[in-house]
Amino acid sequence: MAYQSIEVRSLTPTIGAEIFGVDLGGAISNRQIDEIHEALLQHLVIFFRDQKMTPEQHKDFGRHFGKLHIHPAAPSLENHPEILVIKADENSKRVAGEVWHSDVSCDAEPPLGSILYMHQPPSNGGGDTMFANMYLAYETLSEPMKRFLEGLTAVHDGEHVFRGRYNYAANDPGKVFPRSEHPVVRTHPETGRKALYVNRGFTTHIKELNRSESDPLLAMLNDHAETPEFQCRFKWQAGSVAFWDNRAAIHHAVWDYYPLTRFAHRVTICGDRPFYKA
Ligand code: SIN
Repeated sequence: MAYQSIEVRSLTPTIGAEIFGVDLGGAISNRQIDEIHEALLQHLVIFFRDQKMTPEQHKDFGRHFGKLHIHPAAPSLENHPEILVIKADENSKRVAGEVWHSDVSCDAEPPLGSILYMHQPPSNGGGDTMFANMYLAYETLSEPMKRFLEGLTAVHDGEHVFRGRYNYAANDPGKVFPRSEHPVVRTHPETGRKALYVNRGFTTHIKELNRSESDPLLAMLNDHAETPEFQCRFKWQAGSVAFWDNRAAIHHAVWDYYPLTRFAHRVTICGDRPFYKA
């Protein structure tokens, strides 16, 4: 597509693009929103630099793409339940997103996309986020493997991800986290392309298989999905924004900056129930 209201520069041949010529905290034209949406579908994750947004402006930007999601477990900004606070410092024992995942894939209708706005990157140059293209993960499998996977369902569970990380074991032992079944291969509702839809963070097993079959298959698929050639890696600055499509990409937040502080806000956009269409 020829972009007219924004500039789009690919970061790698396979995933990621930087967007120029838009002020996310200012007036954004309908044309710019349409082209940002197009760039997201084309590149799976798009990046903006030197942005300034209030929490309201951050939410307003997200609302151009759908209803805002409220996280089932993680802390939010006071008076802004739709803004997830992502913070790590010298007291952190774990950080959000340190295992490859698609956001909240344990939800019955997992988020369409997420918009992360960096307030404070760590001062040692660490804290990058890596993204991987799940269309390519699917497309590069052998034909017999694709056919085998297309009939399968995966279980995605929030319990082992959220209970320890947010201290529910001590504070709310009765809390129930989302757990859902999704097709192992999903059809993207907007592009119609097929993507592998399992991830190391949330996917516990494949429903139709024995554990002794499911565990090695998932390990193989996760290793394959994390192939370096399917990835890009983003280096944050204060004011950087990343917007990714959770339906076609997984991501991994690199925690190489302990005990330094990294602090960001995330707005997440509701999605729909994953489906597979032959
Ligand atoms: C996440 O949204 O999973 C965290 C990403 C990050 O902190 O880079």
